[in-house]
Amino acid sequence: MHVRSLYWLLICLSTLHFVSSCKLITQHDWLTGGKCIAWDEASEKARSFVSQLTISEKIGLVTGSYGPAPFLPCVGTLAPVERLNYTGLCMSDGPNGVNRADGVSVFASGITVAATWDRRLMYEQGLFLGEEFRMKGVHTQSGSMGPHARGGRNWEGFGPDPYLSGLAMNESVTGIEATGVQTSSKHYIGNEQETQRNPSTKDDETVIEAISANIDDRTLHELYLWPFANAVRAGTASVMCAYSRLNQTYSCANSEILTTILKDELAFPGYVVSDWGATHSTVDFAEGGLDMEMPGNVTASGIPCYFGDKLLEAVQANKVSEERLEDMARRVMTPYFRLNQDKDFPMTDPATGPTLLITQLGHGSPVAGMYTEVPAIDVRADHARGIRKLGAASTVLLKNVNGTLPLTSETSFALFGNSLPDPTIGSAFVPPRAEDVPEGYETGTLDIGGGSGSMRHTNLVSPLEAIRTKVKALGGRVQLLLDNNEIAAGRFSTIYPTPQVCLLFLKAYASEGADRPDLNLQWNATMAVESTAALCPNTIVVTHGPGVVLMPWADNENVTAILAAHYPGEEIGNSITDVLWGIVEPSGRLPYSIPKDEADAGPPILALPENTTDPGAWTEDFVEGQMIDYRYFDANQGKEPLYEFGYGLSYTEFDMAPSLNVQLTVGSLDQHVNKSMGIAPGGMADLWTSVAVVTVNVTNSGDRAGSAVPQLYVSLPQDTTPPGTPVKVLRGFNKLYLHKGETKQAMFELLRRDLSYWDVQGKEWVIPRGPITLSSGFSSKDLRTNTIIAI
Ligand SMILES: *[C@@H]1O[C@H](CO)[C@@H](O)[C@H](O)[C@H]1NC(C)=O
Ligand SMILES: *[C@@H]1O[C@H](CO)[C@@H](O)[C@H](O)[C@H]1NC(C)=O
Ligand SMILES: *[C@@H]1O[C@H](CO)[C@@H](O)[C@H](O)[C@H]1NC(C)=O
Ligand SMILES: *[C@@H]1O[C@H](CO)[C@@H](O)[C@H](O)[C@H]1NC(C)=O
Ligand SMILES: *[C@@H]1O[C@H](CO)[C@@H](O)[C@H](O)[C@H]1NC(C)=O
Ligand SMILES: *[C@@H]1O[C@H](CO)[C@@H](O)[C@H](O)[C@H]1NC(C)=O
Ligand SMILES: *[C@@H]1O[C@H](CO)[C@@H](O)[C@H](O)[C@H]1NC(C)=O
Ligand SMILES: *[C@@H]1O[C@H](CO)[C@@H](O)[C@H](O)[C@H]1NC(C)=O
Ligand SMILES: *[C@@H]1O[C@H](CO)[C@@H](O)[C@H](O)[C@H]1NC(C)=O
Ligand SMILES: *[C@@H]1O[C@H](CO)[C@@H](O)[C@H](O)[C@H]1NC(C)=O
Repeated sequence: MHVRSLYWLLICLSTLHFVSSCKLITQHDWLTGGKCIAWDEASEKARSFVSQLTISEKIGLVTGSYGPAPFLPCVGTLAPVERLNYTGLCMSDGPNGVNRADGVSVFASGITVAATWDRRLMYEQGLFLGEEFRMKGVHTQSGSMGPHARGGRNWEGFGPDPYLSGLAMNESVTGIEATGVQTSSKHYIGNEQETQRNPSTKDDETVIEAISANIDDRTLHELYLWPFANAVRAGTASVMCAYSRLNQTYSCANSEILTTILKDELAFPGYVVSDWGATHSTVDFAEGGLDMEMPGNVTASGIPCYFGDKLLEAVQANKVSEERLEDMARRVMTPYFRLNQDKDFPMTDPATGPTLLITQLGHGSPVAGMYTEVPAIDVRADHARGIRKLGAASTVLLKNVNGTLPLTSETSFALFGNSLPDPTIGSAFVPPRAEDVPEGYETGTLDIGGGSGSMRHTNLVSPLEAIRTKVKALGGRVQLLLDNNEIAAGRFSTIYPTPQVCLLFLKAYASEGADRPDLNLQWNATMAVESTAALCPNTIVVTHGPGVVLMPWADNENVTAILAAHYPGEEIGNSITDVLWGIVEPSGRLPYSIPKDEADAGPPILALPENTTDPGAWTEDFVEGQMIDYRYFDANQGKEPLYEFGYGLSYTEFDMAPSLNVQLTVGSLDQHVNKSMGIAPGGMADLWTSVAVVTVNVTNSGDRAGSAVPQLYVSLPQDTTPPGTPVKVLRGFNKLYLHKGETKQAMFELLRRDLSYWDVQGKEWVIPRGPITLSSGFSSKDLRTNTIIAI
């Protein structure tokens, strides 16, 4: 089973510019760029630029690698137009750094970033990412959101809650684009599993179509579309359409989602780019709303090209109008001008080609031999500091019996488990692909998942290295056992004396291209916990996982602490060491619920037998509607998660004052959106009007400093909304750092959209009549206070 969540990725494509905050913010003086300009002005510049192009040059703007060779050697490349000083576009994955490159940082995965519940850190990571893309001369970054519990790419995204994901999308898009790099938000939409994400061909040539997510209009708006609206509002340059189908039509040819919803309803002014190989024909895709085909005209990729010459022919035959081609080209150029990528954008690092090809094809391949190996430009600056900080701040403390953590004067440690040392397979996990090895590699820590979101490591600080260094400095000793099967079998004869503390590091791999076989930690992890606990009454378990991992051993009396560290990036060892010894407090909170077992983890991955012959068989109705994760537990009395959404312990304790104060910031609250306020990227402008400010006081009642994460949940009335309204939804959170004894006010700003539901008849957002309950607390189950407002 998997929890359905939202599959959003933020891609970094290498374009540079930004939206509303027309100011270039970077950490480093030598990283300069232009100021952002308004969408209208950018669109006008784009129109004027496109008007000077020949038809075949226009085709070159909407088709990867179409035009006079040679091209920039990027994962996605647009040809230059030299007579107009246009140097083309270089696009690269991914959400955690410049993929398949050298001299770059490996940042925390999306799910780790979401677990911080800290907008500032989300923004900062975006800024650092943007700096690295820019310095590499990459114009566009591709990034993402997160889906079904077992979905292979959940770790790339921000988890199953649309509000938390939406805020994270906003912060990342804003941060990345502040450096003048374009973002591509993905995968639009309903791309919730990897299995059959693409069509397949049988021996007899029958094409079995890709999976179709059939999602009703209200669920689409309130759950899956919600964070994309934040991304569009934040100024995302591009949206990447998914491999999969939505309501039986391929996402990249689906005019309902691309044209009606994205471009008209959300007023998205940028371009829609296909996922690599997600285009399957010419006219339907161009007319459906796809603006750019990737990778396009690259024979070596083995992916057929449906734009390029074929689009040229279709335009000449009037099957696709010239106006549409003009619109596509203008959309592609608008973010380029908006982010001032026409001014001073760095040249692409000459090491890009060789690093990409050697990572993909290996040394000695004829294609890789086209390039000479040159040293890469090192763009890491001091980003490792930020990665270490975010990694520690995102760590979720799930269990801590009698103050086991932080560690104090202990000196005798066991370091157990296969997620401690450097990976024995090397510094990049792109291969092995998940299709071949769903559990990844056996020995080595797991700071990032696999596939196109993965990275080469220029540096990696393993937990083994960091903890051993720390313990040595404290004058203690460590005893190692890294083979999980040895641990599982309880072969502890080498361990003497019995350590004071057993630190057990376990992992679960996930990668693009395959869904997880189940939700357990891998490599005999469950047995390994039980054996360790039998030896060691002070067992601390640290998990490196892509999202939900089951913990059937959570109540084991000798498991004294549990830390969920997710995939925190290259400083994985330093971040956890900071937390274990209390240099940093574990202030992460779960961005999803951990169920007791797989049955409560949401709808299953659809997996049909190999012998399926019906071309349309892969189709799945999202019958659970919005009832995923905490909404599912709220709707099913008697079902309890093991650890709920929003949960996480601290090294201190917090209280919340009993009174939740609400201040309406508008005179009267109409049920309907004020349409005369117009429309802007993100949708009807009035949806983003602040309508109320809610405040509540939070006190640190423990004996050390720490960060509280007060949360605000909104319950719309059940009797004046259609069936399927969740019991409550997250609509606000703050992260407050509090000294011992200190009180601070948490403030939640509610926008009109936060109190609205999507009315499918009227096709509009509506605030329901009747009492709306606002509740605040420290998790989706730990609610401390509430109040009612009536509209
Ligand atoms: C690929 O690009 C080259 C150069 O512009 C062109 O000659 C060729 O016809 C293109 N192929 C397709 C399939 O568009
Ligand atoms: C291209 O750049 C050159 C050198 O900066 C400049 O002289 C020329 O006017 C530019 N051409 C266009 C069409 O902008
Ligand atoms: C989006 O993020 C930016 C940058 O941190 C922030 O200034 C802005 O208020 C955010 N917008 C919303 C709607 O959260
Ligand atoms: C998908 O189909 C459902 C059920 O018919 C409908 O409610 C929804 O509006 C459709 N969505 C799109 C984007 O076509
Ligand atoms: C926790 O502390 C209490 C009180 O000191 C003690 O009774 C209890 O046994 C301790 N629990 C564990 C698991 O050590
Ligand atoms: C788990 O460990 C036990 C004990 O070493 C071993 O017998 C078993 O094969 C292992 N299971 C797996 C799936 O590796
Ligand atoms: C916990 O540790 C104690 C003391 O070592 C041991 O007797 C007991 O069996 C252990 N419990 C479990 C569940 O392993
Ligand atoms: C497909 O294979 C399964 C066994 O794996 C069998 O039960 C089923 O009848 C087969 N279906 C068809 C359509 O051949
Ligand atoms: C709706 O918006 C328009 C334009 O901002 C404004 O003039 C008008 O007063 C608003 N109407 C209401 C009922 O708030
Ligand atoms: C909330 O805390 C602030 C700051 O400590 C304090 O000034 C204010 O009076 C408190 N408000 C309430 C309602 O307790």
